[in-house]
Amino acid sequence: MATILDGSDPHVIAVAATALRAGELVAFPTETVYGLGADALNEQAVAQVFAVKNRPFFDPLIVHVPDAATAALYAVAIPPRAAALMEHFWPGPLTVVLPKHPRIPDIVTAGLDSVALRVPSHPVALALLQAVARPIAAPSANPFGYISPTTAAHVQDLLGEAIPLIVDGGPCAVGVESTVCAFLDDDAVILRPGGVTSEAIEAVIGPVQFSASDRADLRSPGTLPRHYSPHVNLQLTALGDPLPLPLSGERVGVLLFTEQRLTQGYVEVVMLSRDGNLTEAAPRLFAALRWLDCLGLDRVLVESVPEHGLGRAIMDRLRRAAARD
Ligand code: TXA
Ligand code: MG
Repeated sequence: MATILDGSDPHVIAVAATALRAGELVAFPTETVYGLGADALNEQAVAQVFAVKNRPFFDPLIVHVPDAATAALYAVAIPPRAAALMEHFWPGPLTVVLPKHPRIPDIVTAGLDSVALRVPSHPVALALLQAVARPIAAPSANPFGYISPTTAAHVQDLLGEAIPLIVDGGPCAVGVESTVCAFLDDDAVILRPGGVTSEAIEAVIGPVQFSASDRADLRSPGTLPRHYSPHVNLQLTALGDPLPLPLSGERVGVLLFTEQRLTQGYVEVVMLSRDGNLTEAAPRLFAALRWLDCLGLDRVLVESVPEHGLGRAIMDRLRRAAARD
């Protein structure tokens, strides 16, 4: 079992920073999901992150830093549109992919010439990044392919046997991972929809592209079709369609984003919002999937949401969660 310590205690931040500098792994809160941190400049520590998560080495990690000035140390160029987003959305749930500085070891970026950089807004994450004074490579603190953790207890369940320390910062307020936006040629390309909406990004820098599954060059190595997956069979209903009824004897759960009248006959009904408020729903989404996954259900029916605003990130995670091998 990992030790869980309260990240609002400055002494805990000091202990965690010392552990990271010594090459140990520390799970810590961000506003999106909990991360599994390692000193990005320590190749052995980073290798441990891949080992503990059972993550393939071709899937690069995000490097977390306390501010944009520190981020600039690890990129060889920052195009003006990237700088504008960093200025506008940092600290916050935005990751920018930029040409990589050789200071960042290749293991962090899976050998790519680019590096993903992010300044999280969670006060505990920022305090830790300032105290450790090293860039911190941190994927979500879950085994590869499973649902990301949004509480310290989730991390304990998922990785507690494999890591020494979890810093607790309460439940994550955003609840879906950061938006990953690449600036590798003249275009801005959203590789992963996330906590900052594409509408908000376009309001700052104008039109962006979206990664397409048929363009390997525009795809994030980590965006495999099957990801964020619970074990139970998830079925996404078409937008606006009524929920299918359970077959007799079938144990069916339902995950809703709006209030629905006809929910008799289901074993469990989780309503993330009454009125489709996605800012309210997103922080509860992964915890709800975990809960529905542990009930031994035959299947879970999931209401679709419109694909704008946070709905893009939510539908992206739900489609991957529903994909079968
Ligand atoms: O909200 C978040 O981003 C969380 C918290 C902990 O910061 N982190 C997170 O990390 O979601 P992870 O490893 O689960 O997802 C990182 C994503 C993957 O899809 C990965 O392929 C992509 O970022 N990525 C990282 N470096 C990249 C690069 N150089 N080029 C393209 N994609 C990259
Ligand atoms: Mg992840």
